[in-house]
Amino acid sequence: MAAKIEDIGACVFDAYGTLFDVAAAAARCRDALGDKADELSAIWRTRQLEYTWLRSLMQEYVEFRQVTGDGLDYALAALGIEDDALRQRLMDIYMRLDAYPEVKDVLTALKSGAIKTAILSNGSPEMLSSAVDNAEIGDLLDDVFSVDSIGVYKPHPSVYQMAVDGLGVDAGRICFMSSNAWDAAAGANFGYRVVWVNRFGQPQERIPGNPEHEVKTLEALPPLLGL
Ligand code: LAC
Repeated sequence: MAAKIEDIGACVFDAYGTLFDVAAAAARCRDALGDKADELSAIWRTRQLEYTWLRSLMQEYVEFRQVTGDGLDYALAALGIEDDALRQRLMDIYMRLDAYPEVKDVLTALKSGAIKTAILSNGSPEMLSSAVDNAEIGDLLDDVFSVDSIGVYKPHPSVYQMAVDGLGVDAGRICFMSSNAWDAAAGANFGYRVVWVNRFGQPQERIPGNPEHEVKTLEALPPLLGL
């Protein structure tokens, strides 16, 4: 295994796809979506992220719930699905996504190692508190930082600065975890120590910033920190 990550003051996590299972919404509606479930999920996630980047460039911020709904509307239209009740069901599930199975144990291990923990996410405060409550991990987090307070999305550097300011920990002592390769790269480029949680076996992005470690799930994190 690669060298351990030493002298870390805080572990900061991306939310969607890293702590919370974004594929669960479409998967739970497989009864209605049938064999379109996976394609819908992929188009929805892609458009949702693209709209955050486009809106940031256009300086047309709206909160992540709207962007998520807009991405879903695009995905449904692309697949020729017109079903308001299904749309509502998908959005309701998205507000209460399950955490990945290892999340609670990993956060517990970090807390017992006296490491601060936080979420840094595009999600709006309401979406994040709903997901955190649903996963019952509120007690295991010191902070939840939402881009909503600055009105611009990842990977703008001011987003990554929020955790530095909010936690009072230098970027070089923050270990950042994201399953999104672009977010992991941008966090590294900003100056975080980064563990890319490559849950989906993606290739590395060709943008600035190199994560220090690549793991499959968060289970590998505590040992990397010597816990
Ligand atoms: C987030 C998205 C990028 O939680 O997954 O910020």
